Amino acid sequence: MAFDIDRFARDSVRVGWEDLDLEVFRTDPLPPESLRTLRYMCDVEYHTVCYLRDMLVTRSRRETEVNAFMTMWNREEFWHGEALAHVLSLHGITVSYDELKAKRVKLGWKDRLAPLKQSVLSNLVGKDFVAVHMIWGAVNEWSASAAYKRLAVLEGHPGLAVLVRRIAAQEARHVAFYATQARTRLTDNARAQKLARLALSTAWRPVGSGIASDDEVTHVMGHLFGGAAGRKEIDAIDRHISKLPGMDGLTIVGDALDARGIAA
Ligand SMILES: [Fe+2]
Ligand SMILES: [Fe+2]
Repeated sequence: MAFDIDRFARDSVRVGWEDLDLEVFRTDPLPPESLRTLRYMCDVEYHTVCYLRDMLVTRSRRETEVNAFMTMWNREEFWHGEALAHVLSLHGITVSYDELKAKRVKLGWKDRLAPLKQSVLSNLVGKDFVAVHMIWGAVNEWSASAAYKRLAVLEGHPGLAVLVRRIAAQEARHVAFYATQARTRLTDNARAQKLARLALSTAWRPVGSGIASDDEVTHVMGHLFGGAAGRKEIDAIDRHISKLPGMDGLTIVGDALDARGIAA
């Protein structure tokens, strides 16, 4: 089914939380492991603008629909970050851009030439780079959607469950865009399929790996996707990926959990 980009642009709204009773967290806070996961997810959402910066110097910027989508998508992801930052603030945790920036520098995310390198790489592989970008985005959005759905189940708090399900619904639309684009661009394109398969199987890491420490990545993966119910969600993502043209048999998300010793 085609993705209606005009409709997406028209219907895109910031996620709302004003109608939810979240103040209750002041007296009935979330447990530390959930706050740690929320903090990670908040950082990832806020980081989207940096990812967008990298992508805007690539071949993808020449694609009208991709440009239109990324504008609205970036805005939606920013508000996901704001929503999570609000929940964290009710627990006395302040998330600030300056702090995030300092953390990224500490972790080595300081390569100012990254967008340039990305641009050179994308021009080397030409239009097929866009197919790789799209399937990469699809995997990350499937992961984000599954993460929010799992958080809603794990944290029975009514206000938080509603909020993260609202976010998950927007992530599902992001999935629809990226997966539709990826499928179209990979179909009957052996070179793009080969590039995408190579990129995913050698370079893909769980969302947030580049901006959070290894311990944090392992905590979040284990918290959200450890155990049978979590692994079921991960297996579903791998099935979605393997159904895209040329991706048969890929199990990159499950493999990432196995590599971290996260048991099913
Ligand atoms: Fe998001
Ligand atoms: Fe998203």
